[in-house]
Amino acid sequence: MEEKIKKYRKSEGSNPLTPITSSWMYKIMDNHEQIGKLMEIYGSPINLHHLPSFTKNIEDFQHIFQKLEVNGQIYFARKANKSKSLVKAALSYGVGVDTASYRELQEALALGGNAENLVLTAAIKTLPLMELAVKNNISIIIDNYDELELVQHVAQEMDRIAHIGIRLSGFNINGQKLYSRFGFDIDMERDKLKGWLGDRLKSKNLLLCGFHFHLDGYSIEQRAEAILQTLDVIEEFDIAATKISFIDIGGGILMNYLESKEEWEQFQERLQQAVLEKDAPVTFKNNGLGFKKNLQENGITGKLNTYPYFNQINGPEFLERILTYKRPGDKPVLEYVRNENIQLRIEPGRSLLNQVGLTIAKVVHRKKDAENNWLVGLDMNMSQLKSSSADFLLDPYIIYSDPIETENNIELYFTGAYCLEQDVILKRKLSFPNLPQIGDFVVFVNTGGYMMHFYETEAHLFELSKNLYIHDDNETILPDDTLSKKHSVEDVFEN
Ligand SMILES: Cc1ncc(COP(=O)(O)O)c(C=O)c1O
Repeated sequence: MEEKIKKYRKSEGSNPLTPITSSWMYKIMDNHEQIGKLMEIYGSPINLHHLPSFTKNIEDFQHIFQKLEVNGQIYFARKANKSKSLVKAALSYGVGVDTASYRELQEALALGGNAENLVLTAAIKTLPLMELAVKNNISIIIDNYDELELVQHVAQEMDRIAHIGIRLSGFNINGQKLYSRFGFDIDMERDKLKGWLGDRLKSKNLLLCGFHFHLDGYSIEQRAEAILQTLDVIEEFDIAATKISFIDIGGGILMNYLESKEEWEQFQERLQQAVLEKDAPVTFKNNGLGFKKNLQENGITGKLNTYPYFNQINGPEFLERILTYKRPGDKPVLEYVRNENIQLRIEPGRSLLNQVGLTIAKVVHRKKDAENNWLVGLDMNMSQLKSSSADFLLDPYIIYSDPIETENNIELYFTGAYCLEQDVILKRKLSFPNLPQIGDFVVFVNTGGYMMHFYETEAHLFELSKNLYIHDDNETILPDDTLSKKHSVEDVFEN
């Protein structure tokens, strides 16, 4: 049989950052015609979501809870990706959804969510949002006294008992307090909070069901310590308006994007050399991505301002490390959790989206700038591949319409549609065998967590990117926005 010639190619060059990929991604990249049709219907860029990868991630986390015999529950943090298909998949898989706004909660309810499987953690809770949550008996994570007053008032007006969790912060880690703008300070507010909730007049329509935290950063130790310190608080909260059944430890479970630790370290080293002008730039306009040249010492200051894309310990193993953490000479965290008969909840966003997403855009033009750089203009803008990270440090792919016969090692940057000098889609200089043709496709892999949606805007009145999903391996690709309440889970998944 004649071997099919591959037409897609990853960026290579001397500083590769090879992403971890999945077989479904290659099936898509192999089907130029199918992508062409999708672009005709939905425009560029498109975001593809592979639901079997999502449910596999759910299973992998569930496996850790089962293995360690911990009563655990997952709440998918929907803020990381807007797609309804993921909400539907999470709910039909028996896990919950963490909602962070009125529309997130409203849609999750319409898609089949309920008091059993939804939680509201919104940073700002307006009166309509609080009313929606109380009306539907959704657990509400409370951040401050004004929210406590509001939820009490709303529940009283509706003659209901609101189920609440208290968000804590200010945990003590190795003698230092962890600052957060969120939550009640674990030291300063403890007694006042106990008094407030213990006052039957003030809190007569409230039932305290649990405690919550979400920590910035990615420390296993900090999360484990925060669980232990929260358990101490629970012991003290044996008061009237309480029936404490959960600790919710939020998200921040690390994910690994890259195949090679060496590539990751070499890239950072090489970037620093470029910033020091000891080597040629590896980024657009020699952007240090957080590294700066210290002129006095001719050294580097600052730190890499991106997500830590390579992580040896990630996903389910990261969770396992939290649960098996012990203070010197003490029992592991999981034993305390088991003994207290507490459900341990997690709210992973990014790490549940590992290997779930692809963003594909069409090449519109090619040009050379005055510094002799190839700039390849894509039919997308910088907000459609953006997070708080200074750059998305994964090699993208080009799908060529013509077979790659000769290799010319072209270095290039991808540019976007905003009228901003900084709309350079990836800051890294990339290297491909050939310049793409107009109409070729560029594929960014593993973009499901935050990259697609978190900062997407409609500036210049650009259409928002289209979200599509693949519900099983028969490769049917469906638009996310057709999902509605009318569909049963079976309708959607057996279409
Ligand atoms: C309260 C809360 N829960 C969960 C998450 C999800 O975090 P991650 O995507 O890092 O898992 C966030 C992210 O900001 C959050 O604020």
